[in-house]
Amino acid sequence: MTPAIYLFGLFIPCILPFGAAQGTSGHAYPLFEYETRSLTKEGLEDLLAEAGVVDNASLFSFDDGVEASPGVSRPACKVFPGDAEWPSQSTWRTFDKLLGDALIETVPVAAPCYQNLGVYDAEKCAAVRDSFMNPCFHENDPTSIFWPLFQGRTCMVTDDPTSRNCTHGGFPVYAVNVSSVSQIQLAINFARNTNLRLVIKNTGHCYLGKSSGAGALSIWTHNLKNLEYYPDLEIPGYSGPAMKVGAGVTVREVYAEADKNDVSALGGICESVGYAGGYIAGGGHTPLSGLYGMAADHVMALEVVTADGHFITASPEENTDLYWALRGGGGSTFGVVTSLIIRPFFAPNHTLTSFHHLTAPLFTRLRTLHIPTTPTTTLHPSFYAAYNATWGSDIALNSAGRISVPGNRLLPRRNWLDPALFNATFAVLRRQVESGRSLMGYHQAPRRRAGVGAENAVNSAWREAVCFLILSGRREVGGGGPDGGPSVEEVRAASWDLRENEEGSEGGVLCDDGGGE
Ligand SMILES: Cc1cc2nc3c(=O)[nH]c(=O)nc-3n(C[C@H](O)[C@H](O)[C@H](O)COP(=O)(O)OP(=O)(O)OC[C@H]3O[C@@H](n4cnc5c(N)ncnc54)[C@H](O)[C@@H]3O)c2cc1C
Ligand SMILES: *[C@@H]1O[C@H](CO)[C@@H](O)[C@H](O)[C@H]1NC(C)=O
Ligand SMILES: *[C@@H]1O[C@H](CO)[C@@H](O)[C@H](O)[C@H]1NC(C)=O
Ligand SMILES: *[C@@H]1O[C@H](CO)[C@@H](O)[C@H](O)[C@H]1NC(C)=O
Ligand SMILES: *[C@@H]1O[C@H](CO)[C@@H](O)[C@H](O)[C@H]1NC(C)=O
Ligand SMILES: *[C@@H]1O[C@H](CO)[C@@H](O)[C@H](O)[C@H]1NC(C)=O
Ligand SMILES: *[C@@H]1O[C@H](CO)[C@@H](O)[C@H](O)[C@H]1NC(C)=O
Repeated sequence: MTPAIYLFGLFIPCILPFGAAQGTSGHAYPLFEYETRSLTKEGLEDLLAEAGVVDNASLFSFDDGVEASPGVSRPACKVFPGDAEWPSQSTWRTFDKLLGDALIETVPVAAPCYQNLGVYDAEKCAAVRDSFMNPCFHENDPTSIFWPLFQGRTCMVTDDPTSRNCTHGGFPVYAVNVSSVSQIQLAINFARNTNLRLVIKNTGHCYLGKSSGAGALSIWTHNLKNLEYYPDLEIPGYSGPAMKVGAGVTVREVYAEADKNDVSALGGICESVGYAGGYIAGGGHTPLSGLYGMAADHVMALEVVTADGHFITASPEENTDLYWALRGGGGSTFGVVTSLIIRPFFAPNHTLTSFHHLTAPLFTRLRTLHIPTTPTTTLHPSFYAAYNATWGSDIALNSAGRISVPGNRLLPRRNWLDPALFNATFAVLRRQVESGRSLMGYHQAPRRRAGVGAENAVNSAWREAVCFLILSGRREVGGGGPDGGPSVEEVRAASWDLRENEEGSEGGVLCDDGGGE
């Protein structure tokens, strides 16, 4: 095995100056059209009456804080398909009617490769195979996720349609194809009142598989694609360029819209990550972190449906606890975000000369150490152009991992300041590489650079970090898993090894980013 360290190309994002634009919004917090279709208690009563739902109206009601049956606590477990308490077919039909036919009875994305679900289709199976490594493919499916390991690999692409059966495994069994806030409210109320497991899926990128769930009802936000740029938005606490981003919009779409308007937006390395979904909820690290901190530090307001079913605004003025928590506190934790407002920028600002001046000591030092480096520096007219040239076609970031168990590490600045700590840090990195594990690094130091806005739920370890590492390794596997890949035990052992064993085990740690089937 050849030890390898990957250095990302250097680039200079440089935004051309942009004249101040005119126009302000009349509202403090503008709403998208799909957010104007939301339910109040009275609105829900009207909807139920209109649809003729009388018997089971309580299945859709808001949580008004009064216990339904005083003294009787909620059951500890969620109901699962097949349980006596599982909603009847006619109840599901009633739910679908209220949703305006937006309920999907889900079918695993690779089901056409199998005989048992009655949808076998060799051509469709081949199409799934061809697209499986493309994250956009998973974005477009109501349940498919980026890391099938967490789904249980119960319906992977196969050439052999009969040797195994395709089952749902960890995929939700129903999904709501959301196009209005009222549908999110109905789904939350229905799940709470019938004790269903509820998940939220946007793109399915979650490293921990949290956008999936066995036997669950899923809120699928993918089609909430609205995106609006405001050259000069005036809202409480902020006035300037801003963007309102719908829950289904991806990093790619935010970058493109910002670029069109001669501003930069803070986004991630992977273009297909969902912006207002998991990205901001996780804090949002970005190639621009060194200048602006975390993306979540720049979110000025969020619209959200909370667990009681109500549609509210979280901002520096309203529901301030939620405003704090939704910026960095984790996806699918505090409610379903339907959109957010974030400020864009006119910078960063380097010239070739200032950049060479900045980096010269580094390259001089490398030469002194006899490490040959030939830096190539390109001046790009905008952040998006620089981003695209650097990462836009990065295959490694665009593949759906079959069995990858990534391990992430944030390295604090103090490890570089104290000589003993530095030596220890360097020794660990060296052992990682020498044991055959791969190591991918993002040099991002998102200190509290934002001023107003930086007080939020972003993990405080980020504020000290100078670098973020993604580790994985490689090991020969026995093929005893549900898809002919590694067995569950092998995955568990590899996961433990990566988490607990800094030295790396004999033969390295299991990882196969490339295997999409
Ligand atoms: C290849 C790759 C590269 C990445 N690069 C970066 C990067 O550069 N910077 C960075 O910060 N992150 C990066 N990430 C991590 C990424 O931001 C997270 O995985 C994020 O959670 C993905 O969010 P999503 O909405 O796209 O995915 P999903 O899997 O659909 O959702 C993620 C989580 O958020 C929840 N969720 C989704 N939508 C909502 C909503 N509207 N309201 C409430 N909860 C919701 C889901 O239930 C789930 O728990 C990367 C991930 C991958 C796979
Ligand atoms: C009402 O709920 C009960 C219990 O789940 C179910 O048996 C019945 O079919 C439902 N009626 C309608 C019209 O959905
Ligand atoms: C697939 O499921 C059917 C019943 O649904 C069963 O008869 C058959 O044995 C299963 N096949 C395999 C390979 O498990
Ligand atoms: C989801 O709804 C949109 C309309 O909002 C529709 O165009 C799309 O085809 C639907 N997708 C699925 C898979 O039902
Ligand atoms: C832009 O460059 C100027 C001059 O070097 C500097 O003072 C300013 O802080 C820079 N702005 C940002 C956002 O880095
Ligand atoms: C991104 O880069 C690719 C080449 O790597 C190019 O084909 C594409 O047009 C670029 N897209 C944008 C929006 O600049
Ligand atoms: C760190 O390592 C270098 C090189 O091995 C050594 O010269 C130095 O004494 C070490 N420093 C400390 C504080 O351990």
